[in-house]
Amino acid sequence: MSSLQYPMAFRRSIESPDEFWMEQAEKIHWFEKPKAARTIDENGLDLWFSGGKMNTCYLAIDHHIAKGRGEEHALIYDSPVTQTTRKYTYNEMLDEVSRLAKGLDTLGVTKGDTVVIYMPMIPEAVFAMLACARIGAIHSVVFGGFAPHELALRIDDAKPKAIITATSGIEIDRIIPYKPMVDDAISKSIHKPEHVVVFNRRLGAVRPDAEYDIDYKTLVKASGHIAPVPVDATDPLYILYTSGTTGKPKGIIRDNGGHAVALNYSMSAVYGVNPGEVFWAASDVGWVVGHSYIVYGSLIHGNTTVIFEGKPIRTPDASTFWRVISEHNVRVMFTAPTAIRAIKKEDPNGDLMKQFDLSGLRYQFLAGERCDSATLHWLEEKLGIPVIDHWWQTESGWPMVANMMGYAPHPVKAGSATKPVCGYDLKILREDGTEADPNEEGYVVVQRPLPPGTLPNLWGDTERFIKGYLTRFPGFYFSGDGGYIDEDGYVYITGRVDDVINVAGHRLSTAEMEEVVSSTLNVAECAVIGVNDELKGQIPLAIVVVRSGTNVQNHELSANIINAVRVEIGPVASLKKVCIVDRLPKTRSGKILRKTLRAIADGAEYTLPSTIDDPAIIDEIIARFKEEGIISSAANGNKIDTISQS
Ligand code: COA
Ligand code: AMP
Repeated sequence: MSSLQYPMAFRRSIESPDEFWMEQAEKIHWFEKPKAARTIDENGLDLWFSGGKMNTCYLAIDHHIAKGRGEEHALIYDSPVTQTTRKYTYNEMLDEVSRLAKGLDTLGVTKGDTVVIYMPMIPEAVFAMLACARIGAIHSVVFGGFAPHELALRIDDAKPKAIITATSGIEIDRIIPYKPMVDDAISKSIHKPEHVVVFNRRLGAVRPDAEYDIDYKTLVKASGHIAPVPVDATDPLYILYTSGTTGKPKGIIRDNGGHAVALNYSMSAVYGVNPGEVFWAASDVGWVVGHSYIVYGSLIHGNTTVIFEGKPIRTPDASTFWRVISEHNVRVMFTAPTAIRAIKKEDPNGDLMKQFDLSGLRYQFLAGERCDSATLHWLEEKLGIPVIDHWWQTESGWPMVANMMGYAPHPVKAGSATKPVCGYDLKILREDGTEADPNEEGYVVVQRPLPPGTLPNLWGDTERFIKGYLTRFPGFYFSGDGGYIDEDGYVYITGRVDDVINVAGHRLSTAEMEEVVSSTLNVAECAVIGVNDELKGQIPLAIVVVRSGTNVQNHELSANIINAVRVEIGPVASLKKVCIVDRLPKTRSGKILRKTLRAIADGAEYTLPSTIDDPAIIDEIIARFKEEGIISSAANGNKIDTISQS
């Protein structure tokens, strides 16, 4: 993609960011070119490409048609759960998206309005996102695994004029009726959307009618076309809620211009894929990976994207991924390590893989959680192509650390996502803000300005944005992750330093789960921690103290807690284990020692803080963890005897 080698390109992106990104901005189509690369807003925050006018839907569809590619495939829908495959050309996509956009326009949705999308993995989810982008409406996609309560929280924060949903999703063993969940969420929310556009999948799910309902197909059929509405580069394209350290999810804002420029760059520079080739991100449109690489990055760059409605296993078996790759000639693929662990467990020798011609696959990317060496090496050996771990977040919107395939690749070091991506001046800082030495673990930060495509702010909460990301280390964006850089400049991400956990590549907040657990009847207090899990990376564990004077049975209370988390947050939380204890370990000031609990549950070394109130509680906890099978009965707790004076 470039005659520059990575070190030169990287240096240039850091030393002359405005020049570097203006050059990249030349590669997308603007209705009006930006007047400046970077400006500063009234809150002192960076804005990219002010003055530029464009439309993200135009870039994803119309632009390719204008270049004569209208009859090429833009999207492949592959659904093992409904046994359907359908391909859409750019012309067909335009027809679908433009009619839906016009339909939304007739419902009164205009530029700057918000629209919540709660959809399964069907093409209409992509059409809905692009239709919003076409008319300058700001979408907020909510992952289908979240329960009505979570949907209601997002409705109240985003205040959508309309919701777009479908009658149902399909999980491995059941149909999930979405419409009743949307109705439930609307009954719970204070803000009431005017319309709910429902795509009827005709799969037999219950579909209660409500006054606000509009039938998707009728709306699309009745509508003509609408031209893309020019928006400012700095206008929001979408809001995506993600878990933070409190019970309230954070609405990450993505702008239009910086996002398009950065994603377009990343497709060739990071993923090494050429326009016209098939790119598959096996994620869900409810997550950032889905936004960036099922929808926007692939389409803007002119790649055929795959929307896959299924799981790596059991739909129907562990060969599904390999079938999709060979059947659709996927050149570059992206999934989470969990998916590979699930496949490896079912097919350790890769026998199912051998049935398919995978010779077209060039690179396999992994992200979303830490990639363990065993998974990396297994996949490298089985596929015989570069397997590339890379690190990023909802906040960044595109990779921050990767082995950039658009430049001469670096040798892979297992455990490392390789080097900072161009644009990210990444550092490891100590608690006091000084820079860590090579191999010394610390906080992963990025020197401001962040490159285009990264979050410019939080929806409706600039204070939380500044406090949460920019204040702890002045001059830097704080990622919330810990890690270190080795003597060769390779970055190793060791995990979150806050209460965010990562379950099967899904980012969840333990604080949010604690709110639900502690308000369950008969619970006096609790801690929810993430513990290591062979398949999902981490799973939540609730450690609970029963309210005194109650005689509830442990199994009954556990079942109530598990059900409450499922009902309030959703099945995606995967809280399946509750451990009832007499007391929780705390400091003298009453702070629960979650880090110590985590270390004990994971069999890791720990040091008791000198501020611990009653060290005897630790022995009680170890005994309970053994009884519950959380740690083996032979485990002793890896306590380092000396009590830290820090
Ligand atoms: N709508 C409704 N429910 C959903 C859902 C959705 N869109 N997505 C998940 N769920 C439910 C599942 O049915 C499951 O419910 P259960 O507890 O009744 O079984 C629960 O939420 C947890 O789902 P999941 O995390 O997908 O676990 P699983 O056990 O069904 O499957 C894996 C395990 C490893 C196969 C699966 O987690 C996976 O494919 N992981 C890859 C992760 C990934 O792509 N992450 C995206 C970030 S890159
Ligand atoms: P999300 O915002 O849902 O994409 O989750 C982002 C978080 O997932 C990061 O802050 C990391 O904690 C974790 N993560 C993502 N990719 C990786 C990776 N390659 N290695 C380690 N952790 C990762």
